[in-house]
Amino acid sequence: MAKSYYLKRTLIGLCAFFGIILAPFAYNQLFAAYQAPEVKLPTEAQMLTAGFGTTTCIENKDFMRQQHMTLLNDWRDWALRDGNRSYVSTDGVEYEISLQRTCMKCHTNKAEFCDKCHTVAAASPYCWDCHIQPEGYNEGN
Ligand code: HEC
Ligand code: HEC
Ligand code: HEC
Repeated sequence: MAKSYYLKRTLIGLCAFFGIILAPFAYNQLFAAYQAPEVKLPTEAQMLTAGFGTTTCIENKDFMRQQHMTLLNDWRDWALRDGNRSYVSTDGVEYEISLQRTCMKCHTNKAEFCDKCHTVAAASPYCWDCHIQPEGYNEGN
C-alpha cells in the first residue's frame, strides 16, 4: 500500500518534471515552427487591371493568412455542392467563387506567393493537379 503510493507519487513527479522540461519544445512545434516568409504581392496597377475594383485581398490579411485554406474549401463546397458562385466579402464586395478567375487573377505569381509559403510550411495543396494555371502564369509581377 505504502509502496504503491510512493510509486504513484514518483510517476506523477516524473511526468510533471518532463512535462515542464519538454513544454517549450512542444510549444515550438505547435506554434512557432512556421514563420510566414516574405511573399510577392500583386501591384496596385495589376489589381486594377484584374477588374475587382479593389486593391486589397478579399478579406483582411490576418484572416487570409490564417483561414485561406478553409475559405477555399468552403468556396469549393459552395460552388460544387450548392451551385453558388458568388461570394460577398465582409466589405460588401462581390467576387466570383473561382480559384483561377479570382484568387489567381490578383496573385498571378504562384511561385513567389502560394508556393513560397507552402514550401516553408511543408504544405503541398494538390489543387494544381486539376486546376490549370492561367496564361502568363508566374511570368507577370
Ligand atoms: C483584388 C486582388 C486580390 C484577390 C482577388 C485576392 N487577393 Fe489575396 N491578397 C491581395 C493583397 C493586396 C494582399 C495583401 C494584404 C492586403 O493588402 O489585403 C493579399 C493577401 C493574401 C494572403 C496573405 C499573405 C500574407 O503575406 O500573409 C493570402 C494567403 C491570400 N491573399 C490568398 C488569397 C486567396 C486564396 C484568394 C482567393 C480566395 C485571394 N487571395 C484573392 C490581393 C488579392
Ligand atoms: C502567407 C503564407 C501563405 C500564402 C501566401 C499562401 N498560403 Fe496556402 N497555406 C499556408 C500554410 C502555412 C498552410 C498549411 C496550413 C496547415 O497545414 O494547417 C497552407 C495551406 C493551404 C491549403 C490547404 C492544403 C492542405 O494540404 O491542407 C490550400 C488549399 C492553400 N494553402 C492554398 C493556397 C493558395 C491557392 C495560395 C495562393 C493564392 C496560398 N495558399 C498562399 C500559407 C500560405
Ligand atoms: C481531381 C481534380 C481536382 C482537384 C485535385 C481539385 N479540384 Fe477544385 N474543382 C475541380 C473541378 C472539376 C471543379 C469544377 C469546375 C467548374 O465547375 O467550374 C472544381 C471547382 C473548384 C472551385 C470552385 C470553382 C472554380 O472555378 O474555382 C474551387 C474554389 C476549387 N475547386 C478549389 C480547389 C482547391 C482549393 C483545391 C486544392 C485543395 C482543389 N480545388 C483541387 C477539380 C479539382
